[in-house]
Amino acid sequence: MTKLIATPLSDLMGAEITEFDCREPVDAKTRDAIIEALYRHQILVFREQDLTPEQQIAFSEAFGPLEMHVNQANQGYERPNFHVVTNLDDNGVPMPDPPPEKIFNGTRTWHSDKSYMPRPSMATFLYGVAVTKEGGETLFASLTAAYDALDEDEKIRLGGLKCVHSWEQSLRNSRSRPVTEEERQLSPPVTHPLIRTHPGDGRKALYIGMHASHIAGADEESGRAQLFALLDFATQARFVYAHQWQKGDLVVWDNPSLVHKSAPFDRQKERRHLHRTVVRGDIPV
Ligand code: OGA
Ligand code: MN
Repeated sequence: MTKLIATPLSDLMGAEITEFDCREPVDAKTRDAIIEALYRHQILVFREQDLTPEQQIAFSEAFGPLEMHVNQANQGYERPNFHVVTNLDDNGVPMPDPPPEKIFNGTRTWHSDKSYMPRPSMATFLYGVAVTKEGGETLFASLTAAYDALDEDEKIRLGGLKCVHSWEQSLRNSRSRPVTEEERQLSPPVTHPLIRTHPGDGRKALYIGMHASHIAGADEESGRAQLFALLDFATQARFVYAHQWQKGDLVVWDNPSLVHKSAPFDRQKERRHLHRTVVRGDIPV
């Protein structure tokens, strides 16, 4: 087994893994050690990696089946289970930022990946090919820390509630483009518990974010306002870790435990190009 050295990046969450080569085959013991570290730290940063898309896919697949994407044909690299997050055009030059109302703007707002699906994402793997000098951090807010900080009465009250998550509402919440008819068909609203129990370690977390629409069985507008208030609570600075990217970082995060978003940066000047793979998760309970 490859030894796993995990050094915490903050008092809250995140650990750095050094002297580890993600190109090596992952045996069962190594996989278990990585999963245990991921649940404990919620974010793992494998430093100084040098990965082709195939190598990243192979490493991620050691943790479960990868999510497929419908509309991915980026940078001439077409793979149904591989995704590019970039501000660069085909020549590697920063592109003008399209107006938010023309695109999906949601990665700039707090979210848990694909919480609008019946089986949301488990772990997301994001690899830094080109990274910003200033700004462009990925920000993470711990939903387990936020849950732990709730009053006991509030924990009990929220524990009895279910929350509707919706791709269509997510586009509205993040002031993005309107939903398409195809998307509406593919991802109708789903209902998840508002307090989620982690499938791996049993920790409880608020399960909210920009894809959360309203509280099931309650008035939509007041439910939405409550969810936004909870998201404001959960994303206070004391619950946030900001990941400052280094080239070659492979950042892996545990979606049931946190919400995340990208921080602003100068999109005309900086080059930010990340490769993304995602392991599918369980039905939230
Ligand atoms: C994602 C995401 C944020 C970022 O890839 O799921 O939300 O910092 N990315 O690019
Ligand atoms: Mn995301």
